[in-house]
Amino acid sequence: VKKLALLVVVAISLFASKGKQLFEQKCVFCHAKTPPATMQEREKMIAPPIGNVLYHLDMSFKTADEIKSHINSFVMNPTKEKAICNSVKRFGLMPSQKGVLTKDELNQISEFLTNIIIYSKNSHKKRKGCGGGCAVGAKKGGCGSSGSKGGCGCKKGQ
Ligand code: HEC
Repeated sequence: VKKLALLVVVAISLFASKGKQLFEQKCVFCHAKTPPATMQEREKMIAPPIGNVLYHLDMSFKTADEIKSHINSFVMNPTKEKAICNSVKRFGLMPSQKGVLTKDELNQISEFLTNIIIYSKNSHKKRKGCGGGCAVGAKKGGCGSSGSKGGCGCKKGQ
């Protein structure tokens, strides 16, 4: 989970898009971009950090389309039955964002969030095998070998 959270931060800064902007305007107030560092901050959270949400969506759905349509449906009409995350118990149900944003805006946000999941998955795969080269922003040494500068530490073709 920690790894994914890190990647989420990297990915959020990579996808400079309208969806990102909207996410920061409409969602970050409740869903932090990074998990809080201290216990006190953690206790003050009013919703799960977005990385945790994405992690659970990734585990529960197979395709990007499923993830997208779940976000679209949940944000406008959240119900306990729909919720994948276990967080309803702790935080209560998310309030519907109907009226806060248009369907089109939501679509851009869910596209942005789905891209983060896909990005995190791909770069994880790449780091593991060193097959397809190194993901942007991946940590040096991630592949367990010394290598070219700027990459994640693996030599070409390794
Ligand atoms: C007023 C606070 C608040 C705002 C604003 C908010 N959320 Fe939430 N959200 C929550 C809480 C609390 C939960 C956890 C409880 C739940 O699942 O209902 C949650 C859960 C979620 C989930 C998990 C659904 C699941 O299946 O468990 C998603 C996805 C989500 N939010 C997306 C968004 C997006 C996208 C936005 C911005 C458009 C947003 N939220 C804005 C409070 C908020």
